[in-house]
Amino acid sequence: MQVTRFPTHMKMNTLTKYAVGAGAAGAVIAGAVLGALHLSAAMTTQAEFPAGSPEAKAQLDATLQFKCAACHGATTDTYNPLLNILSLGMMKRDVEAGQRAFTLTPDADVRNASVDLLKMDQVLTRRHMPPMIYRVMHPGTGLTDADAKLLRTQYSEEAAHAARYGTITPAPAPTTPQEAAKIQLGKLLYNDPRLSTTNTVSCASCHDLTKGGTDNLSKSEGVPGADGKPQLGGVNAPTVYNAETNIRQFWDGRAADLKEQAGGPPLNPVEMGYAHPSDWNKIAYKLAQSPELPPLFAAAFGDKGITADTITEAIAAYEKTLRTPDSAFDAYQNGQQQALSPEAAAGKLAYEQQGCATCHSGPTLGGQSFEYINTYADLRRLAAPSKYIEGAYGLADFTKKPEHKDMFRVPNLRNVALTAPYFHTGSVDKLEDAVRIMIKTQGKGIDTPEEVNNITAFLRSQTGKLNGKSLDALTPEDVKP
Ligand code: HEC
Ligand code: HEC
Ligand code: HEC
Repeated sequence: MQVTRFPTHMKMNTLTKYAVGAGAAGAVIAGAVLGALHLSAAMTTQAEFPAGSPEAKAQLDATLQFKCAACHGATTDTYNPLLNILSLGMMKRDVEAGQRAFTLTPDADVRNASVDLLKMDQVLTRRHMPPMIYRVMHPGTGLTDADAKLLRTQYSEEAAHAARYGTITPAPAPTTPQEAAKIQLGKLLYNDPRLSTTNTVSCASCHDLTKGGTDNLSKSEGVPGADGKPQLGGVNAPTVYNAETNIRQFWDGRAADLKEQAGGPPLNPVEMGYAHPSDWNKIAYKLAQSPELPPLFAAAFGDKGITADTITEAIAAYEKTLRTPDSAFDAYQNGQQQALSPEAAAGKLAYEQQGCATCHSGPTLGGQSFEYINTYADLRRLAAPSKYIEGAYGLADFTKKPEHKDMFRVPNLRNVALTAPYFHTGSVDKLEDAVRIMIKTQGKGIDTPEEVNNITAFLRSQTGKLNGKSLDALTPEDVKP
């Protein structure tokens, strides 16, 4: 949907001029008059057009344009600079915050369409948009029942319901011998420390499948530095389980997919120690010495050989098998009501009412978007110890766009009970505390102990199984190559 700002029939230009001339008070009066006129026009015309007709579509666009585009349109210069000063900068802040949270023109680089849908569903249920102060200053911009009905033709409750959750299915069995060889090879490489300079660090060192696909450390330990101690990563290691479904990989999204991601750690001086793309030759040379690997490379890739391309493709193929179906929540979704405890069932409801199910949505409860971490409170202040020094700023670290600062890839919450410590800072040990912080920074309600307890119980119901065995019972025997 392409939205242009303030089409002339909205008379917003006139309004703006009038406002500058007559001051803020005049603007309110003019806004009231125009808003009332517009509102009555909208109310009378809406009834006339059948749902889905071009006229209804035009009406829908016009409503969004008039009531929402000032803060969710394509640009952020929608406010009057003079009035912004009079509002002590509130206008600028609102417009920028609005655009970070939701855009009328979907931005696939930042958010999957399902998250846009769920956020709009929430607005249509709660009616908290436009913000109260804006409604007061711009009479006629409140969402009416007629508007909501019209918007529901594009953002339906049924579609939102379908997008909110999903069950995880087991990875499909390989269909060709090549595919089977690729996965087997990937599993060996995932566990192979020869991908590091010191032959001591493998992918599994930091993404241990018996530890929820993480290392359970605040900061990961890579190859030793000059002082002989392991070098520490800058951010907490996310899980590899179900990572395939992430919109992009890494907290800042700098890798498009698992294959591109797998090329990162070996050439990271802090993680596996190599530094230059030509170092792949050194890794390939070491791997070629092993008795079992060259035949598997040949079976999987023919005569392509042992290269960065084949190594990362095999690892990605293995990672795609690391799905975790059969959680208590999956059983519940498949109709077994008693699979969730009363606390967890109440927690599911609270999770929806608090708005958690917008960002943490879809089959893996997250991974679908990059989101601003400080919506209602400063996450780092709540999450990090006082001496904590921040070095990561999310999507902006990758895109270099200032408006992406502090927008982090939403973590998926499947198996979250096993992936402590939490947040990109790795500085919160208990799931209860992470939930409490999330309610403060993103929630729509209050963080009562009962609410925190129930949501935590709901999140504990997300622990799934690998090859039929619950993730919290896996032993090194179960996951060794
Ligand atoms: C004055 C600016 C402003 C206007 C006008 C405005 N919004 Fe917002 N909107 C915001 C801000 C700020 C946020 C983020 C804070 C929040 O969610 O409360 C937001 C958040 C949202 C979200 C994400 C909500 C969530 O809970 O995740 C949606 C969807 C949204 N707005 C839709 C709308 C719609 C639809 C309209 C028009 C009916 C509208 N907004 C008008 C400023 C605005
Ligand atoms: C020294 C510890 C370490 C090693 C070794 C390591 N990783 Fe990671 N991994 C991390 C950290 C830390 C991050 C987060 C980095 C970031 O987002 O900037 C990460 C991120 C990831 C992600 C992205 C997940 C997401 O949710 O975005 C995947 C997938 C992954 N690693 C797989 C691998 C694979 C495959 C290997 C081996 C080739 C590997 N890792 C080696 C620590 C490590
Ligand atoms: C606006 C989007 C958004 C909403 C709404 C939201 N979250 Fe989050 N959540 C995030 C982001 C982004 C992070 C990562 C923050 C960071 O590490 O800096 C996160 C992190 C988390 C984590 C830590 C996971 C980990 O592996 O480190 C938990 C637990 C969590 N959220 C639970 C919740 C709960 C419960 C709610 C509802 C009260 C909620 N979230 C609402 C975006 C959101």
